[in-house]
Amino acid sequence: MQFRNSREFARQLDKEDKLSIYRNEFIFPKVNGKDVIYFVGNSLGLQPKSAKKYVDEVMKDWAELAVEGHFYAEKSWWDYHERFSGKLAKVVGANPSEVTVMNTLTVNLHLLMVSFYRPSGKRYKIICEEKAFPSDQYMISSQVRFHGNDPSDAIVEIKKREGEHNFRTEDVLKKIKEVGEECALVLVGGVNYYTGQVFDMKTITKAGHDVGAFVGWDLAHAAGNIELKLSEWEVDFAAWCSYKYMNSGPGNASGCFINKKYHNKKDIPRFEGWWGHNKERRFLMEPEFQPEPTADAWQISNAPILAMAPYLASLEMFDEVGMPALIEKRNKIVAYLEHVLHEIDKEVDSSFEIITPADQEKRGTQLSMFLHGEGKELFSYLMDQGVITDWREPNVIRLAPAPFYCSFEDMYEFGQILKKGIMEKKKA
Ligand SMILES: Cc1ncc(COP(=O)(O)O)c(C=O)c1O
Repeated sequence: MQFRNSREFARQLDKEDKLSIYRNEFIFPKVNGKDVIYFVGNSLGLQPKSAKKYVDEVMKDWAELAVEGHFYAEKSWWDYHERFSGKLAKVVGANPSEVTVMNTLTVNLHLLMVSFYRPSGKRYKIICEEKAFPSDQYMISSQVRFHGNDPSDAIVEIKKREGEHNFRTEDVLKKIKEVGEECALVLVGGVNYYTGQVFDMKTITKAGHDVGAFVGWDLAHAAGNIELKLSEWEVDFAAWCSYKYMNSGPGNASGCFINKKYHNKKDIPRFEGWWGHNKERRFLMEPEFQPEPTADAWQISNAPILAMAPYLASLEMFDEVGMPALIEKRNKIVAYLEHVLHEIDKEVDSSFEIITPADQEKRGTQLSMFLHGEGKELFSYLMDQGVITDWREPNVIRLAPAPFYCSFEDMYEFGQILKKGIMEKKKA
């Protein structure tokens, strides 16, 4: 499609957008009395209006039923988490039995490492990407030390080539082959948090399996953003947070995928609790653990219902719209944003560079702008003007127009504000 950087053209795209009605289902903060242009759905998604209703429902049930709410609330609490698996399975391309919701992301990655990082003999190394999200680095490093190994030896990082912003699949595959039978686990972020690059999860998962390693994915920036086929790709495990593209609220519960080949096993190492015990027998208070025959066997504690209510509200919307429609709009709005950025670049001769892959197959909703000249003042200027982005050291502004609630006109408007900001900085 031939784009134009004009308000009329952007408005026309909004008119044609089947998802534009969903914008009104979210609450936008205001700056200078106007709705903000919100680019940080990759950090904390906006609040769906329906979230409050779902939370109020739990508050009412708690007030009116107290403990009886576990069994007699309309959405009973004892099995509240089970309402997620069918819908989430569609978002991540899995069987419902392979998906569960519990705890938070880093906690879940630790718990999954109990099952899937089991160093033994010369197979003890973990392959991850260089400069992985810091929490992943701390998590991996502490797991390695927990097993008595030295992180500087046991952690093997995939590197970008000198002068390049993105990882090459061929380099990932080469590294996996090189580590070979010393590799216990490949654990990478499916979408890089800094650049927005999407990894070729299918090919990398196969390569990890070919050397006899487990393969897991941190899908924090992938769930609700890109097409995932975790079952088909035969991924061993994955986890994601829900507060980014999935709009569940700050610090909210994490989703987990555990391949069905590990279900129904009593001998798999796992940290266990009563919520993973066979649900028919959970309240018989028996001493011996009998795992649920699904990913729910990894559940430990009873679910935090109040926290999970907004997640369920948001998930209902994902179910209504479906990932294919979200991805279709995502591709168009990101391409339009890219066009606007290139046009502004020509108009003001700026010095920013988009470091996210230009290939639609290799990116999701995020474009990262690397500022060569304009510094953090430009970011502050945008924030003051009601454009909410985030800044990642040393000099990156991340822009993630969530297809649920961002409009094409937002992209145009952002371009105009950006242009003004760059010109003011040049004058100063
Ligand atoms: C890629 C990635 N991994 C891990 C985390 C940590 O998430 P949590 O604080 O929910 O454990 C984040 C949070 O933004 C993230 O982006």
